[in-house]
Amino acid sequence: MSRRIAVILGGRSSENPISVASAASVVRALEARGDEVLPIHIDREGRWQLGAGARPELPARLPGREVATTLSDVDVVFPVLHGPFGEDGTVQGLLELAGVPYVGAGVLASALCMDKDVFKSVLRDHGIPVTENITLRLGDEPRNPFGYPCFVKPARLGSSVGITKAHDDSELADGVRLAFEHDEKVLVERFVQGVEVEVGVLGNLQPEASMPGEIVVTHNEWYDFEAKYDEGEMDLVVPARLSEEQIERAQELAVRAFVATDCEGMARADMFVRDDGEVLVNELNTIPGFTATSVYARLFEASGVPYEELLQRLADHAVERFERRRALRF
Ligand SMILES: Nc1ncnc2c1ncn2[C@@H]1O[C@H](COP(=O)(O)OP(=O)(O)O)[C@@H](O)[C@H]1O
Ligand SMILES: [Mg+2]
Repeated sequence: MSRRIAVILGGRSSENPISVASAASVVRALEARGDEVLPIHIDREGRWQLGAGARPELPARLPGREVATTLSDVDVVFPVLHGPFGEDGTVQGLLELAGVPYVGAGVLASALCMDKDVFKSVLRDHGIPVTENITLRLGDEPRNPFGYPCFVKPARLGSSVGITKAHDDSELADGVRLAFEHDEKVLVERFVQGVEVEVGVLGNLQPEASMPGEIVVTHNEWYDFEAKYDEGEMDLVVPARLSEEQIERAQELAVRAFVATDCEGMARADMFVRDDGEVLVNELNTIPGFTATSVYARLFEASGVPYEELLQRLADHAVERFERRRALRF
């Protein structure tokens, strides 16, 4: 069945170019399936415009008439936006108000998974092992109860932007200062020695986990921005080189974290398998990188779900959730 699908891309966050690359892949694959695709672009200033390269009718921070009409007249909206003002529940809220089916996590799950501090509180409450942290608020002095190295990160960002692996007090102070440039809340985390693995999750009421993949960073010390996006800086090994029990444990925890945070549609769980064998959840990304060669797509490809089918299933899940929720009485 072919559909009219609006793909929202770009966005105000520093991950704008990554979103544009993800969306180009999504648009191509949907069109190849026979869907009618309407790209909606948000630029770094937050201006909405219809179509690639189109001129905004009005340089407004809210969708203009043309964009609003399009958004309310499609079968599904696919927000392919990363980070703040896209992956964090803001755009999802707009789509809820517009009353259109959209792909991926809803308002609560999006906001929750964006905030590494609150996210981990919820997971701890569900007995899901997470990376240990303290949270600093604006005005707090740098503090690290974990010893070195440790990780310092803004609470609500992505793509490793603003993150430091600190090896001493002076790097901690610099790292905290840098992270506070990006957010008003900063996490200081105990360093996890182990293997970094990622698991894709797909579905609504019965979410399924992909095969776990192992992130092998080839040159850098950790999975930083360069390792994520520069050619040849990362090898994804699927399936991850783990025992059968660890693979099952990673899949089980990924799905439990997905359910605990109210996720729907899709998410990519970033996890660690510590040297002592314990599996920890680091974070859930509700709109993971989405080119055909991104980790999420490759994990499902290796699990028997090719890219085009993945997109089709996500659109189906968007409609299923929409219909299900429409039956509720408010
Ligand atoms: N506590 C930690 N111990 C070891 N490595 C970490 C830790 N926290 C983050 N990292 C490294 O930093 C990367 C980015 O951190 P992450 O929390 O996933 O932020 P982002 O949202 O930017 O992806 C991880 O993929 C991992 O390589
Ligand atoms: Mg991450």
